[in-house]
Amino acid sequence: MPSLQDRYRKTKERLNTFGQSHVLAFWDSLDDSRRENLLAQCETLPLEILNQEIANSSASHAKSDPSTDDIQPVSVVCAQSLDALKYRSIGEEMVRSGRVACFTVAGGQGTRLGWNGPKGTFPATPLLHKSLFQVFAESILAARRRWRGNIPWYLMTSPLNHQSTQDFFREHDWFKLGEKSVRFFAQGTLPSLSLDGKILLAAPDSIALNPDGHGGAIRALAASGSLAEMRREGVDTLSYFQVDNPLVKAVDPLFLGLHAAHPESSGEVSSKVVAKRDPSEKVGVFCRRDNRTVVLEYSDLPLRLAEATHPDGALMHSAGSIAIHAFSRAFLERLADDGQGLPLHRALKKVASIDMHSGVLVEPVAPNAIKMEAFIFDAVPMAIRSMVYETRRNEEFAPIKNADGEDSAATSQRAQSERAARWFEACGIEVPRDEEGGECAATIELSPLTALDASELAQCANLPRSIAVGAKIVL
Ligand code: UD1
Repeated sequence: MPSLQDRYRKTKERLNTFGQSHVLAFWDSLDDSRRENLLAQCETLPLEILNQEIANSSASHAKSDPSTDDIQPVSVVCAQSLDALKYRSIGEEMVRSGRVACFTVAGGQGTRLGWNGPKGTFPATPLLHKSLFQVFAESILAARRRWRGNIPWYLMTSPLNHQSTQDFFREHDWFKLGEKSVRFFAQGTLPSLSLDGKILLAAPDSIALNPDGHGGAIRALAASGSLAEMRREGVDTLSYFQVDNPLVKAVDPLFLGLHAAHPESSGEVSSKVVAKRDPSEKVGVFCRRDNRTVVLEYSDLPLRLAEATHPDGALMHSAGSIAIHAFSRAFLERLADDGQGLPLHRALKKVASIDMHSGVLVEPVAPNAIKMEAFIFDAVPMAIRSMVYETRRNEEFAPIKNADGEDSAATSQRAQSERAARWFEACGIEVPRDEEGGECAATIELSPLTALDASELAQCANLPRSIAVGAKIVL
């Protein structure tokens, strides 16, 4: 076991090589346990990667924006043109034979929502205010009952919310899924950098770290042993979704069947999209570039492209990502083995850090730092081929991202109630509406355990014959 002093010397040398030796500036004032803390952080710093990123960032500063002239619309597979029965039964068989696991990325900080706690604990449903985690858990439990598969659930947390996420599940008895089948692992972190590329310190003995983005999932799935566990258990397909969308079908046999068997899919990664609401909607967009399918994040999509239309006025780049994918385990293993990691994206943020002279923590008033994150959808162009499937927004996408306005709890709860209302109508039950085809004039909360779709709802006993104006229905 090398001594603290030996480790210090080695670390200092390495930091020196990369121009980051200031990280040890407060060494002399630290006691041994704090020194240990700082060294442990330094020893896992990916300095080679950071160095590369810093070099790239100054190079791209010098150049103008990369050209977007070669970006073409993507072609999407639509439900109308499919033998849905065939693909659905393929997907059902995959679930039944234990080949499918769910995977939720829940490591984000949820800053926009202003919720103090893991985002998945946010009360999401319109009447019972069930948490996002509970909604997903019920959806998985319902899928297990309906298709009789095991369906383990992997959740990626971050070091910042790992413990509180696990505590929440324990307090709720893992929502009846069984402790062993709900599996948590934490994603990695990256240091925040000052605008001139120096690692920021959050305290004299600790680096300012941020989660490394959901693209960190590939490394974390491998490092945590989750991919190996899936292999042992015969899981070969992951149903991936984010923590913010209570309308998600956690397990969708039709989509899984398409992913496995549709001619446009290589079976490596497939994605769901909806038609963009308007050019400015904050969703990533699927496009074609260099003969590959790629996702351009909304912040990277030039206005000119966001607003481009076909002669009939329809948006040219309308394939909005709802961040739902199917991944093959083998594809993720291949990317993890490759060891390259996904490209890093930079964002300018406010990060509290200590003044290097006084050691005092400073809360910045303006963005002072670069945070780096990898995005999971950058794996899409690495697949041999990747299928993009267009689904209906009002059936599958009503995320909770903001405290108010668009994509807030209020808009999501309305969409949840509206979807339930449409399912009731499909079962021949009269639902009050403001006007012909207008908004539902009642609030309905339907658990996935009651029905996963309208056809399952139709088989329920004790459905009401009609619903009164202003009624609050929980089923
Ligand atoms: C995201 C997508 C966007 C897509 C939209 C659909 C990104 C960068 N953009 O936007 O293309 O159209 O959703 O709703 O994802 N997370 C982690 N670890 C992290 C960071 C995030 O697990 O380090 C998780 C969050 O918990 C959340 C998800 O990733 O579940 C999305 O993160 P967020 O940064 O909020 O992305 P959006 O701006 O919502």
